[in-house]
Amino acid sequence: MTQAAQTHPKLYESQKLARWYFVVAIALFGAQLTFGLIAAYQQIDPNFLFGLAPFMTNRTLHVNAMIVWLLVGMMGGVYWFLPKETGREVVGITLAKIIWWVIVAGVTVVVLVYLFVQYGPAKWTTLWFIMEGREYIEAPRWADLAIVLWVAIFLFNVVATVLVSRRITGILAVLIFDLVALGALYTAGMHFTVNISMDQFLWWWVVHLWVEATWEVLVGVLIAWSLMYLLGTSRRLLETWLFIEVTLVFGTGIVGLGHHYYWIGTPEYWLGLGGFFSALEPLPLVAMVVHAVYDAGGHRLGTVNKPAMLWLIAQAFGNFIGAGVWGFMQTLPQINMYSHGTQMAAAHGHLSFTGAYLSTVMVLIYIAVQNLRKPVQVPLDSKLWKWAAALLLLGIIGIAGAFTLSGLTQTLVERAEGGSTWAAYINAYTHPWYARTLAWRFAFAWIAVIGYVLLVWDFLTIGRGGTAAQSAAVSPLATAGGES
Ligand code: HEM
Ligand code: HEM
Ligand SMILES: [Fe+2]
Repeated sequence: MTQAAQTHPKLYESQKLARWYFVVAIALFGAQLTFGLIAAYQQIDPNFLFGLAPFMTNRTLHVNAMIVWLLVGMMGGVYWFLPKETGREVVGITLAKIIWWVIVAGVTVVVLVYLFVQYGPAKWTTLWFIMEGREYIEAPRWADLAIVLWVAIFLFNVVATVLVSRRITGILAVLIFDLVALGALYTAGMHFTVNISMDQFLWWWVVHLWVEATWEVLVGVLIAWSLMYLLGTSRRLLETWLFIEVTLVFGTGIVGLGHHYYWIGTPEYWLGLGGFFSALEPLPLVAMVVHAVYDAGGHRLGTVNKPAMLWLIAQAFGNFIGAGVWGFMQTLPQINMYSHGTQMAAAHGHLSFTGAYLSTVMVLIYIAVQNLRKPVQVPLDSKLWKWAAALLLLGIIGIAGAFTLSGLTQTLVERAEGGSTWAAYINAYTHPWYARTLAWRFAFAWIAVIGYVLLVWDFLTIGRGGTAAQSAAVSPLATAGGES
């Protein structure tokens, strides 16, 4: 690490911090996969680790680790690109470093508490010190407050840097607007009410509006910077698309929230509102694919960072297929009535998070790795990156495919045929189709894990020790984009 910094004198403090964000993100990604693997096996053999690490705890750790590492990875991307965009060191970087290590320590404590305490009485002390019990954002309240402070400092870093540099670009304006929404929405998941409908009503503000609005826009910003770097795409073109995408994302996604309000005790008009607006949600995702294909065509994919380029393509299509197609499949109330509460949601969850966010973080890390390893931008290549990406993506697509078949079995056997009775539920879970999907899912999980191991290995080794021949092959595109 220090060696890389020495060979690259121009590294900003903010980029050095970004490096730590990426390291922690990848470590937590490993934790996510480990807990996912255990949870998947426990669905095949419920006796596995019985009494020691319950399914519920592993599942919680699996999904919470995911939220944290993806957010950390994307924030790392902002710390990486912000000094380049504004042409100066990030303002308040010492504060950013302090809060970062507080957060790392906090996350470690929260994970240990989940592992060792596991469950207990529903009391105020539990809410404050153990966990809040809201899926995906289960952190206890003390950690919630630390997270809000963290995002506030992050927002301060961005705003203050932009103010001091006296230059605001379209991309930065979108970023600031988005971060305000992202930070503010998190607090919607901190209200406690004994009415479960009201509780869920607000919790979805975070879960849905984060992943389908503010995170999508954050990704739009990061991908815009990445495209400038990778393909030298013009800022004017990128900003025009970004504005279109942001308008469509918020225009469809805010009321699209209604697709989670169908069956939780909210008024019936949400069926129409949610159905209509969420059916339009794939529109911005189509726009993003068109945008990517347009750029790719214009530049014939000439780039010095092929691994990042591959993940960028995976992002454009994965986002559209995972979020757009798999989401659309179950978003109309007439269909959701049968598919809701089945593994169809998990299939969509795996594909969409991978397509939209995991892929984005991989693009960012490969870009950072290239800059950390080389004093100048020389083509980044290795034997491993293709294998790592192929196995990781194949594994996750296989997992999601298996989840889709589990969900279809449930939809047909448990819902359509059996009419949602207890007997029908048991029937679906013990049906041979369903049992087989659990085994397939577990097999694909190992492929994903091998992909992950290769990926970590590649991050550690790719681009180490370049040759003179490589240095001669510097692409004018990458240097131009790198200046942006
Ligand atoms: C990157 C964007 C997206 C991500 C990361 C995402 C992720 C998820 C996740 C994890 C769930 C399960 C939530 C739970 O625990 O109950 C879910 C549910 C759902 N998503 Fe998405 N989603 C995205 C975009 C979309 C889009 C664009 C649509 C519609 C076109 C959509 C439609 C749905 C529906 C209808 C459900 C509810 C399924 C059910 O419980 O019956 N999602 N999404
Ligand atoms: C080794 C690979 C993985 C395995 C074995 C695995 C397994 C699982 C299992 C067993 C569940 C619980 C399903 C249930 O409640 O019945 C789950 C949930 C989930 N996983 Fe994974 N997973 C893996 C990788 C990933 C990745 C890479 C992502 C996203 C980047 C992801 C995102 C999710 C999400 C969002 C949920 C919650 C779905 C919902 O509530 O509908 N998983 N996973
Ligand atoms: Fe949603």
